Amino acid sequence: MTATYQEHGDIAVITLDNPPVNGLGHETRTGIVDGVNRALDNPAVKGIVLVGSGKGFSGGADIREFNSPKVLQEPSLNTVIRVVEGSEKPVVAAIHGMAMGGGLELALGCHYRVATAGAQIALPEVKLGILPGAGGTQRLPRAIGLEPALNMIVSGTPVMSEKLAGTKLFDQMIDGDLLAGAIAFARSVADRRPLPKVRNLKIDMPNAEGYLQFARNTVRTVAGPFPAPLKCVDAVAATVTKKFEDGLAFERSLFLELVQTPESKALRHAFFGERAASKIPDVPSDTPLREIKSAAVIGAGTMGGGIAMNFANAGIPVKMLEMKQEALDKGLATIRKNYENSMKKGKLTQEQLDKRMALISGTLAYEDIGSADLVVEAVFEDLGVKETVFKKLDEVMKPGAILASNTSTLDVDKIAAFTKRPQDVIGTHFFSPANVMKLLEIVRGAKTGKDVLATVMALAKKIKKTGVVSGVCDGFIGNRMVEQYIRQAFFLLEEGCLPEQVDKAIEKFGFAMGPFRMSDLAGNDIGWYIRKRRYVEKPDVVYSKIGDKLCEKGRFGQKTSAGWYDYKPGDRNAYPSDEVNQMVIAHSAENGVERRKISDEEIVERLVYALVNEGALILEEGIALRASDIDMVYLTGYGFPLFRGGPMFHADTVGLPNVLRSMRKYANGHHPDAWKAAPLLERLAAEGKSFN
Ligand SMILES: NC(=O)c1ccc[n+]([C@@H]2O[C@H](COP(=O)([O-])OP(=O)(O)OC[C@H]3O[C@@H](n4cnc5c(N)ncnc54)[C@H](O)[C@@H]3O)[C@@H](O)[C@H]2O)c1
Repeated sequence: MTATYQEHGDIAVITLDNPPVNGLGHETRTGIVDGVNRALDNPAVKGIVLVGSGKGFSGGADIREFNSPKVLQEPSLNTVIRVVEGSEKPVVAAIHGMAMGGGLELALGCHYRVATAGAQIALPEVKLGILPGAGGTQRLPRAIGLEPALNMIVSGTPVMSEKLAGTKLFDQMIDGDLLAGAIAFARSVADRRPLPKVRNLKIDMPNAEGYLQFARNTVRTVAGPFPAPLKCVDAVAATVTKKFEDGLAFERSLFLELVQTPESKALRHAFFGERAASKIPDVPSDTPLREIKSAAVIGAGTMGGGIAMNFANAGIPVKMLEMKQEALDKGLATIRKNYENSMKKGKLTQEQLDKRMALISGTLAYEDIGSADLVVEAVFEDLGVKETVFKKLDEVMKPGAILASNTSTLDVDKIAAFTKRPQDVIGTHFFSPANVMKLLEIVRGAKTGKDVLATVMALAKKIKKTGVVSGVCDGFIGNRMVEQYIRQAFFLLEEGCLPEQVDKAIEKFGFAMGPFRMSDLAGNDIGWYIRKRRYVEKPDVVYSKIGDKLCEKGRFGQKTSAGWYDYKPGDRNAYPSDEVNQMVIAHSAENGVERRKISDEEIVERLVYALVNEGALILEEGIALRASDIDMVYLTGYGFPLFRGGPMFHADTVGLPNVLRSMRKYANGHHPDAWKAAPLLERLAAEGKSFN
């Protein structure tokens, strides 16, 4: 059973026992109702304590039940709360660790609540694009006040239990043994009648209407495209404008409305996508891990420095190796500057800065890094240079050390073959800036050991990254797809757009940054360098030469103060460039293309469906394990709008037959080869299925 019943003299104790977080799954809900009924049936029992075993009281709904009929099966959480609240004997919630979502709603339905300090109290539903649907929006404001409750419900952020001591949420804070304290408390109130109910509390706020109007305006500006935060305000407002039961019904209707919104579906997709990404079918979760107590990074450039910071932030000592002292000094100075900037913003204390810098050291000698448990190579993107480095690593690294490469495009199997220990070699593709971006593409080579893969997945979690496994191919999941996206962006210029129009259209769709602003930030020379290789390797693939022309002018982007846009010193804003725009127009003429007006809809479809089609190929080839992994790559590494759930999820939402129809239309344009539909896309569309 996931909820157990025991009697301690005249007090019944119902213990939630559904690891890891006592999720309120069907069996647990049933157990609570059974427990209350048993206690009511026994005349010797005077009161009931509801407590959680293990880590906390309850983390809320059992996410394993999401998307299954069990979620709705009676007793629902609302029924459980009605049973608890309606009990003729007092029910005391005893809270430690956490009371979140449905867990907190259940506690609010109890007659009394006691808690230990340090418990996280939250209604985080808004993070999944919904709102608490079991009375949370109606009871929490009555317990702690309108304003604090609204803040908690709109943000979903946990508040520590001790901060809420003194409110009507907690009748007593318990210092020592929680269960003993809760039983003693239950005994002390056993004969008190009437039983207190949160629903009967009055909200005392003279200018509630004015405050709610202010809150609505504030929330509207920060909610962006998400509807849930404003609905949270509406629901909370009902605590002052409606009777309790009417408020409950109103909350329920808003909940049901929000569950159906594409934004909520996208957020839930991302939530489950993150969890799914950590599962690799042929690598069991009990695969033994290698210990990572120290790390080394080869190359202290843009990426090497950021990667080293990740280790230091997680408390792992790291040594950076460079070829020359100046490069090393420069790398270390950049790291210090980054930390100092965080400190200026109040995100880091001097003490934390000192501690992190103390974990980072530099060296010019390979012998100094031989004992590291993991080494990440981040030298120039050149197979010859990687060969030199990996041969050296093979000589100096201790047996069992993990040898990782941060390559963005090169063949990890070839890199592994430079060593005599290919099972220890893996790709760890960080994204720039590596200390900030959430994504870590973990590239599994043909010979990568399962324990190495499992260890790096666990490490990703430790350094707070979203690890997504990719097979070996040119560009892996993310960059292979982005190549098609950029290719379309260039074609759009050739056919009639200017950079600003393309960027604005896709930014309006929700991307953090359009392709041209993004290229200017990353450096246009990187793509140029890769394309030159492509012209040799894939002579039959047509690329627009517009990007090459830009680079031939030395316009590499922000670093040269000129790229697709102009930049001013000390100003990161992109200013449309006459020179570039003239170049774009002239380029069309040189290629005999008559420029035409292109709609924003066409821009967005061409950019996004280029991603989708390549994503479908990647999925079919098994480079990505599942469609949601591709979505996670785009949500966490490429600024794809979260409220659209990633490219594959977006395609599902649009409907795959509709995606195909548009692709066929674009295939009648200048570059039909770019619109050759992936067989998987064709098949799923024909079968009426979706990617996810
Ligand atoms: N810049 C990005 O946005 C980005 C993103 C993801 C991955 N990557 C990949 O990361 C790697 C590094 O890229 P970067 O942008 O940091 O380059 P970078 O030029 O900024 O830094 C490379 C550093 O490596 C050092 N180096 C070169 N050869 C070396 C050797 N043999 N031994 C020791 N140090 C050596 C150089 O001195 C330089 O400091 C590349 O493989 C690149 O494809 C880059």
